[in-house]
Amino acid sequence: MAKFQEMGEVISQVCLCPGIFDLTIKAPQIAAEAGCGQFVAVYSKDAAHLLPRPISLCRINRQAGTIRLVYRVAGYGTDEFSRLAAGDSVRVFGPLGTGFFLSDKKAMIIGGGIGVPPLLETAAALSRRGMRRENIQIVLGYRNECFLKDEFEQFGTVYIATEDGSTGVKGTVIDAINANRLSADVIYSCGPAPMLRALKAYSEEKGITCYVSMEQRMACGIGACLACVCNSTEKDGHSQVNNKRVCADGPVFNAKDIVI
Ligand SMILES: Cc1cc2nc3c(=O)[nH]c(=O)nc-3n(C[C@H](O)[C@H](O)[C@H](O)COP(=O)(O)OP(=O)(O)OC[C@H]3O[C@@H](n4cnc5c(N)ncnc54)[C@H](O)[C@@H]3O)c2cc1C
Ligand code: FES
Repeated sequence: MAKFQEMGEVISQVCLCPGIFDLTIKAPQIAAEAGCGQFVAVYSKDAAHLLPRPISLCRINRQAGTIRLVYRVAGYGTDEFSRLAAGDSVRVFGPLGTGFFLSDKKAMIIGGGIGVPPLLETAAALSRRGMRRENIQIVLGYRNECFLKDEFEQFGTVYIATEDGSTGVKGTVIDAINANRLSADVIYSCGPAPMLRALKAYSEEKGITCYVSMEQRMACGIGACLACVCNSTEKDGHSQVNNKRVCADGPVFNAKDIVI
């Protein structure tokens, strides 16, 4: 798949809740190629910070030629991005990685924390395929602030779990699945490692195909440096090691193929 480096024009940036930002960038070549579950590398303007920051595509608008990124301020790079305003430019490279492999089977879309954003385009893509709302069940886990929840509601039924119980079920996404007696044939998920580990175990117990989007610290972002490997269940036929590169072989994997 073609990758593009674009000097994107910032169309808008809003703060969704403390520390979480919603950035829309005009990047027509990337928008034309991208699919759900893929990410872009976003560059700092400060030459001292050479490595770009990987951020998932929350929405892709091919007609408008825009991509939307929703991210949490974690450190230097994301803090700089949070100060971008309409009319500014920012260098982006992508689309990167392997996104979600979609099927028409009854789905559970499961997101946790800052893993929620890439699942919005995933829910939209399932809806565009003609899947009925009742077959798109969306389970979102948050600490407290339920950002993007309302936007998910246009594509399916949304079930919430919060750590403090302020919205939905008090507990984890697994608690929300059990409390609402949900079942599905396929899971699309993104979130913190403990959540993905629990979903891998849950899907194995229930015999459900489960796709997980993994996060690792990255350097090149295109599969060349091996900075981002995770452990795989099978040996790689080429190098004979139990490794997969999150940036190129993933970030989306079938949970059965990796060790979480
Ligand atoms: C494929 C992929 C998709 C991602 N999508 C999103 C997204 O949609 N929204 C979002 O908010 N974040 C996302 N991230 C995480 C994001 O890339 C990091 O938060 C960001 O690179 C931090 O850069 P920084 O310069 O702000 O922080 P730094 O100053 O570089 O680091 C600040 C802190 O964050 C930690 N950190 C940095 N990078 C990562 C990482 N990759 N994983 C875990 N901890 C990290 C550091 O260890 C440190 O403690 C994604 C990461 C990957 C690999
Ligand atoms: S970041 Fe270089 S191989 Fe993945």
